[in-house]
Amino acid sequence: MTAKISIIGAGMTGSTTAHWLAEREIADLVLVDIIEGMPQGKALDLLESLPIIGKDVSVVGSNDFEATKGSDIVVITAGIPRKPGMSREDLLTTNAKIVGDATTSALKYSPDAIFIVLTNPLDTMAYLAMKIGKLPRERILGQAGVLDSARMRAFVALETGVSVENIDCYVLGGHGDEMVPLTGRSNIAGVSLREYLPADKLEAIVNRTRKGGGEIVSLLKTGSAYYAPSVAVAQMAEAILKDKHLILPASAYLQGEYGLKEMFFGVPVQLGRGGLEKIVEYKLDADEKAALEKSAAAVKESIGVMQSLVKI
Ligand code: APR
Repeated sequence: MTAKISIIGAGMTGSTTAHWLAEREIADLVLVDIIEGMPQGKALDLLESLPIIGKDVSVVGSNDFEATKGSDIVVITAGIPRKPGMSREDLLTTNAKIVGDATTSALKYSPDAIFIVLTNPLDTMAYLAMKIGKLPRERILGQAGVLDSARMRAFVALETGVSVENIDCYVLGGHGDEMVPLTGRSNIAGVSLREYLPADKLEAIVNRTRKGGGEIVSLLKTGSAYYAPSVAVAQMAEAILKDKHLILPASAYLQGEYGLKEMFFGVPVQLGRGGLEKIVEYKLDADEKAALEKSAAAVKESIGVMQSLVKI
């Protein structure tokens, strides 16, 4: 393999990201964590699964960032996850330090890498990593939209019984309870959800999507979701490495798009080998615009709190 992806944080999301990526056979993989032996053990276990699934990639675990040298993509999952009763914002103080350090250490060995941030609060952590790493916006994205949209697709499939393959959903905005599921644009085989579903059912799906992360946290009790967030990262990484020019919802640094600037926010982005190629701008109706503004206010507040804690 010529491509290399390093995953910082080998906990639930980090190791599951490695799993989904190994199955795709698109890059050699490195897992880094501060816990001694853990990334090495998980990497070896994953490596030993590869003969069974017939995939030839290298998987290495380390406590040293030197192992990440020359990475094409760095995925940051390091940090603490939510416990029941916590919002993503409650993680800010702890995770800001961890994400800042991880970004600096990873950049030392991979100055040209494209970064994908998964640590929460997502939009704020992506902003922090960009500023600390002095990264151009093309080379840093946050994963949230693929996950939030997939949750909505899953809920629509549960409600309608239609194949998930026929269901396209678009969730924009910040990765928090104010996120904005676009119900008019989301569709089942071309039929808008607003036509397909009665208003009360659609509203229930929107609400469940917005609280999708919290639903899992309250069930797991000891951590947060990891299968869906990590396969979302794998899809983004594959789009980048294969230069697919694939349009996906993700958190990107806005410079005037959607009337917003100097913040990360979930928008449709086109991904290719250079990372962010383009931000797609939808023509939104007044309700959608108002919802996005509310979500943007929540993200701006979070960035403000972070700026009062960390010098960037
Ligand atoms: N460098 C590397 N790894 C670190 C560091 C650091 N400075 N600090 C913490 N870690 C590691 C922890 O040791 C742990 O193994 O990050 C890992 C996080 O794993 P989990 O606790 O299992 O959390 P996870 O479910 O993976 O969630 C991580 O992603 O989705 C978000 O909200 C979630 O912010 C959370 C993050």
